[in-house]
Amino acid sequence: MHISELDTPVPVVDYDIACRNIRRLQEYCDANRFKLRPHIKTHKLPLFAHEQCKAGAVGITVQKLGEAEIMAHTGLTDILITYNVMGQEKAERLARLTNFARLSVAIDNEKALQSLAWAGSRARVPIGVLIEFESGGNRQGVQTPGQAVDLAKAVLSHSGVEFIGLMTYPTTTKTAEFLREALPLFRKAGIEVSVISGGGTPNAYRTHELAPVNELRVGTYIYNDRMMMAAQAARLEDCALSVLATVVSRPRSERAVIDAGSKTLSSDLLAPGQGAGYGLLPDYPDASIERLNEEHGVLDLGRSPRKPEIGERVRIIPNHVCVVTNLHDSIYLHRDGAVLAQLSVYLRGKTI
Ligand SMILES: Cc1ncc(COP(=O)(O)O)c(C=O)c1O
Repeated sequence: MHISELDTPVPVVDYDIACRNIRRLQEYCDANRFKLRPHIKTHKLPLFAHEQCKAGAVGITVQKLGEAEIMAHTGLTDILITYNVMGQEKAERLARLTNFARLSVAIDNEKALQSLAWAGSRARVPIGVLIEFESGGNRQGVQTPGQAVDLAKAVLSHSGVEFIGLMTYPTTTKTAEFLREALPLFRKAGIEVSVISGGGTPNAYRTHELAPVNELRVGTYIYNDRMMMAAQAARLEDCALSVLATVVSRPRSERAVIDAGSKTLSSDLLAPGQGAGYGLLPDYPDASIERLNEEHGVLDLGRSPRKPEIGERVRIIPNHVCVVTNLHDSIYLHRDGAVLAQLSVYLRGKTI
C-alpha cells in the first residue's frame, strides 16, 4: 500500500528520516560524552523508544506515570519521570512499577518528596531522585542553588530513595550560571551530583557550549516540525511526520478548505514573527492555513501562484508535532511512500 491510498486526514511518518534523526543526535552525544535520554512525548510509541535505546540512549524520559507504565511493560528498563509525582495513588503505582524498571523522578518540593519516600519504602529497588531547578524556562523548579542543596539533604534523610542529581528544562546560558553556584555548594555539603540533566531540541547541538550537563533529554528531534524549522534546529528534509489532508472545497479562487482542522493539526501557533497559520504546506509554501474549525482548515491562497484543486491531497508539516501525535489513534510508518506499518499511539491521552 502507498500513503497516497490512505484515507485522510492522516499522520504519516517517514521511517528513514526518523531513524536518521535518532542516529545523528546520538552521534553528537557520543562525541561529546553526553548520555542521551530521549523524551518520548513526541512519538509516544514503544517502537521508537526501543529504536532510541538500541542506538545508544541510556533510557527514556516520560512526563506521566501512565506513560512510564506502558513503556516499562514493553521492556524499557530505565525511565525518568520529569514531573512532580504526588499523592497516595500515584505513589502506590510508582512502587509497583519498580518491579519492572529502574525509575527516577524529578521533583522540586517536599510534598512530592513525601510521596516518593512512601513509594521508595515499598519499592523493589530504590527510586532515583533529581532536583529540578529553574534556569530560564519559568516553569517549575527550585529557584536558588541553596534550595536545591536543602531539598537534596531532605532526600538523603529517607531510605528507599536515592539522590542522583540535578535536572532542568530547557538548557540555557542560565543553566550554566545556576550550576556555577550550585556545584560548589553540593561539594561543600559532601553530596555527590552524578547526573546533570538538561534538555530541549532547539539548543540540543549547542549543549556542549551552553552548560556542563552530562545528560540530554530531547523529544521533538525525532520528528521535527515547523517550530523547529523556525528555530533553525531542523530543515524541511529533517521533518519526519506530515499530515496528509484532502482539499474538499474551493468556494473561491483564493480559498481552499481541507479536511484537517484543530482535531487533526491542534491549535498551536508559532511564536509571533515566526510564521502565520496552522502548518506549512511544502508543495504550496505561499499558501497559509489561516483558520481552523474542528474538522476543517481554511487556506488562504491569495499569495500562492499555484493552487490545489478540489480532491487533491496536500502535505502539511504541523507547527508543533508533539501535540499532533497526541490527537491521533495511530500513525502510518512509511519508506519512500510505501506503508511499512500502522502503529497505535498507545501513550496518547495519558494525563495521569
Ligand atoms: C522536562 C522536559 N524535558 C525534555 C523535553 C524535550 O524537549 P524538546 O521536545 O524540545 O526536545 C521537554 C519538552 O517539553 C520537557 O518538558
